[in-house]
Amino acid sequence: MPKQQPQWTAVDDYLTQLVVQSDPALDAARAASKEAGLPDIAVSPPQGKLLFLMARLQRAKSILEIGTLGGYSAIWLARALPPGGRLVTLEADAKHAEVARASIAHAGLSEVAEVRLGRALDTLPLLAKERGDGSFDLIFIDADKTGYPDYWGWALRLSHPGSLIIADNVVRDGAVADAQSADANVRAVRRYHELVAAEPRVTSTVIQTVGVKGYDGLSFALVL
Ligand code: SAH
Ligand code: DHB
Ligand code: MG
Repeated sequence: MPKQQPQWTAVDDYLTQLVVQSDPALDAARAASKEAGLPDIAVSPPQGKLLFLMARLQRAKSILEIGTLGGYSAIWLARALPPGGRLVTLEADAKHAEVARASIAHAGLSEVAEVRLGRALDTLPLLAKERGDGSFDLIFIDADKTGYPDYWGWALRLSHPGSLIIADNVVRDGAVADAQSADANVRAVRRYHELVAAEPRVTSTVIQTVGVKGYDGLSFALVL
């Protein structure tokens, strides 16, 4: 653990209490994930609210998430949708999907947010066939990191000019700057950054973050 971790956590707790505040459905989703033994890897409360703000700024009507876990980030994103808006979230683990569906229902969002069970590389082609290319206004990539380069290709295909593509966990304790890294996750995330940077159809940035989840970062790419 970095020596600054207690401070990062204390500041996140302080900011969460001020700008996020306690919220029954979101608190219940975190508790249900913990209760079911899911890993404690959802976005932090301030990051969840950032996703919500981004979806609002984007005036997103259709949102795709890759990597649901217990539905915490999905609830944040689904809440940003206007009436008639829809979120689809893809999850490979049946238990995670079940916990997420229950928390989404508890949040009153069952009509808005749909959890699709299956490996994203299996469910994305079906989704593309069903919805058509260019059908999502915001895409949040947060599943297995080795899949990120492939998810980037699908995100581009499923987006349109004006869409926003966000990816989580793209700094990895700073290891992303290590060109010699043997870590498969680091190598895949570096490949992700290189694909985004080389793509003329988008303009992007990456922000490093510290907080309750340690040192990591988020990538933002706007489709031109
Ligand atoms: N977005 C969530 C956290 C997701 S954690 C939140 O912030 O609340 C990553 C999730 O991706 C895990 O639930 C894991 O089971 C799922 N996952 C891993 N590999 C996957 C794949 N190939 N397809 C779909 N989901 C996958
Ligand atoms: C992991 C996955 C995440 O999406 C995250 O935000 C943190 C950790 C993981 O697989 O360890
Ligand atoms: Mg993540």
